[in-house]
Amino acid sequence: MNREAGAHDWRPFVRHALACAGRPADDAAVAGREALMRARMGRLLRADLRDAAPLGPGHRCYDVVVSAYGADSATADRATWALYMARIAGLVRPGGLLAVAALRRCRGYDVGDRANVDEADVRRALAPLTEDLSVEARLLPEQARHGYGGIVLASGRRRPAVCPQNAGAHGRGAQPSAAA
Ligand SMILES: C[S@@+](CC[C@H](N)C(=O)[O-])C[C@H]1O[C@@H](n2cnc3c(N)ncnc32)[C@H](O)[C@@H]1O
Repeated sequence: MNREAGAHDWRPFVRHALACAGRPADDAAVAGREALMRARMGRLLRADLRDAAPLGPGHRCYDVVVSAYGADSATADRATWALYMARIAGLVRPGGLLAVAALRRCRGYDVGDRANVDEADVRRALAPLTEDLSVEARLLPEQARHGYGGIVLASGRRRPAVCPQNAGAHGRGAQPSAAA
């Protein structure tokens, strides 16, 4: 974010994302997209899914929440993973968009134990929390050496009042988006 020396170089990811979107992906386009992202970033908040209110008490709800490999990284226990998914969904305003990615059937990744979930688990966890739910598996056999053979991608619109522990936090004003 702040261009610190030694920070991870995300430019290859930005280039790939631009190319996937069918946009120019030369150095100038990558620099332009990075500048746009920095300009659009509001705040950086610390989140801990072990807390009933991951962003702290009285957090706001967001129009869009993207959680990529968050809950399945944070625990190797399936029930705890489902709880964490509910907590992530609880960060979305009713009717807002939740997008989730998880490593598929991964017990252990390069960097630790994982929840070992698949598309059926993701659907089971998100169906009560969202509507217009879309869940798909993408098989990536070339990643097997890292401990997983695919990913699960899901998105849905948050149902009202899905997360009792956050009741009362909703309606305090929505923020545009959050990513974890
Ligand atoms: C595989 S990384 C994914 C990071 C990023 N979302 C991405 O797609 O590049 C897993 C992330 O889960 C975070 N994480 C682990 N335990 C967590 C917890 N209890 N609460 C919130 N995040 C946690 C880690 O800090 C790490 O950033």
